[in-house]
Amino acid sequence: MGKYNFDKIIDRHGTSSLKYDFQKERRGREDLLPLWVADMDFALPEEILEDIHKRVDHGIFGYTDPKDDYFDALKGWYKRRQNLDIAKESVTVTPGIVYAIAVAVRAYTKEGDTVIIQEPVYYPFRETIELNKRKAVNNQLVYNKDKNKYEIDFQDFEKKIIDNNVKLFLLCSPHNPVGRVWTKEELTRLTDICIKHDVIIFADEIHSDFIYEGYEHTPLLSLGEEVVKRAVMGVSPSKTFNIAGLQVANVIIPNEELRRKFRFQNDAAGYSQGSLLGMTALISCYNKGEQWFDELKEYLSGNIDYIRNFLKENLPEVTLIEPEGTYLIWLDFSAVTEDYKQLKKVIVDDAKLWLDPGIIFGRETALFERINVACPRAILELAMNRILAAVKQN
Ligand SMILES: Cc1ncc(COP(=O)(O)O)c(C=O)c1O
Repeated sequence: MGKYNFDKIIDRHGTSSLKYDFQKERRGREDLLPLWVADMDFALPEEILEDIHKRVDHGIFGYTDPKDDYFDALKGWYKRRQNLDIAKESVTVTPGIVYAIAVAVRAYTKEGDTVIIQEPVYYPFRETIELNKRKAVNNQLVYNKDKNKYEIDFQDFEKKIIDNNVKLFLLCSPHNPVGRVWTKEELTRLTDICIKHDVIIFADEIHSDFIYEGYEHTPLLSLGEEVVKRAVMGVSPSKTFNIAGLQVANVIIPNEELRRKFRFQNDAAGYSQGSLLGMTALISCYNKGEQWFDELKEYLSGNIDYIRNFLKENLPEVTLIEPEGTYLIWLDFSAVTEDYKQLKKVIVDDAKLWLDPGIIFGRETALFERINVACPRAILELAMNRILAAVKQN
């Protein structure tokens, strides 16, 4: 038995939660169980809430900048968890990773330039590129059915870079939604190609704390000097500690020239002092949250085991793409139906679930669904039983 209870169901309705309170606006109905957007249905532990309460009780919430306690907490976490040294001067605080991606796109490319991504990938990657009038080129990840995992087509990656004169690569590491924790060998092959063709690499490592047993995360900044020269690494406590609403993330850029360009665009966007409560929470989470997080990860691993067993016993026609990291589970429904509209009927109209349908990650994955398993097990059991009943009735 751990110290923390992740089975507790907390009602999030009426908190302006994106996951719970915008169903009418976004889906035109209010009867769906939401397991879509990547936030968790777990509360922070008392010891961290106390630090936030203490800051709130002070009563004054003026402009705030990070001091050494902030950088020490950040550095401590990454040294302990990923054996990575982060220098204070390399850090830029931003309100989020998607914001940081947009700043990087503006900093390292011009309108009309091409940025490479690997779909299926977190959809704001493509959106951010295109909204900034750049072109997205896709190095499609390949689903290896025999190995039940996604792989990289390195030849295509290099060819697309050459053919499109690519300037920037947005890497998702670990990868949302396919759950891969890229190996050092895979990352080295990718970064070697980037070095050869002078491509800057932005690594979105927001999920890098969620790595399951048997796998190891390799931070972009651990891949050697030549990589570090062209590396921008985005990290954040927002997934790890479920504080996306507090708006704090960090962008680590050891290379001075790349950092200057990033900060110029950050200034141009008008962002200066960050979120006071975000910074307060970051310090407390990174200093005091380790045991809570380790227990949480074990609980999530149990949730994944539950899905794996449930499908094996009840619904073998649905394939779980074995997750190596993240709490976003990628399910293949292609043996259930060949029509994504029919799949929508099964999941939405019949199972009454709000998941992220594969179609929003690209046409090739229209018969997949992404489930967020960061919820109490009882909720997940309810969701899986609804999927079972819906598939059987169709
Ligand atoms: C890969 C990835 N990057 C970024 C984000 C969002 O980050 P932020 O809220 O800091 O913009 C998410 C959230 O789901 C994500 O999965």
